[in-house]
Amino acid sequence: MENLNLPDPLATQLKRQKIIEELVQQRYSLNPNYFDLDLVTTLRRELIQLAEEDALCAARIGKDGQRTRRHSIRGDAIHWLNGSTPAQRAFLAEMDGLQTELNRQLFLGLEELEAHFAHYAPGSGYQRHLDSFQNNNLRRITIVAYLNEAWEGDDGGELQIYHEDKPMATVLPQGGTLVCFVSEEIPHQVATTRRDRYSIAGWFRVRELVG
Ligand code: OGA
Ligand code: MN
Repeated sequence: MENLNLPDPLATQLKRQKIIEELVQQRYSLNPNYFDLDLVTTLRRELIQLAEEDALCAARIGKDGQRTRRHSIRGDAIHWLNGSTPAQRAFLAEMDGLQTELNRQLFLGLEELEAHFAHYAPGSGYQRHLDSFQNNNLRRITIVAYLNEAWEGDDGGELQIYHEDKPMATVLPQGGTLVCFVSEEIPHQVATTRRDRYSIAGWFRVRELVG
């Protein structure tokens, strides 16, 4: 009998191809229903569990050494993924396949993904920013995977994407959706959420030159 849990390689390839084409053409890519809903549900439960165990830290802004916490600018609490559960490993394996394809077709030389769970409590958001800036230019491609169930338009918490100062897209943080964009070209913000908002944010990066 067919194993329905194994991803179909052709479907996977088509999904990755769509991301690559959209990144080339518009510098961002929106992918509803990218992830299996069972995986999304498991990852959301792990994040809620971490929050209950007080294992999330207030997120910071700025470069290493002079990092500051400013809840008014960035209101999420985070926990870095470490591959300690089967669900995290499945997520990281899927992203690793995407990294390989991005490198194969776009010659980006991506070496690793750093990714964290994020929880935005009601009333929080993240003001407009770029993920890759002068002091942190190793981040090349941002990914955001949403873990929420049945998000509604009036729940707030939308991701707003800009390009060349023009608003380009508004994305509801619906479970299963994967957003990708070029880290140094796409300013974006998280509108104030009215519900607990769960996600994974990650960055494909190149390695630091040593010496
Ligand atoms: C970030 C970020 C967007 C989102 O963590 O840098 O912009 O929709 N997240 O959660
Ligand atoms: Mn960001």
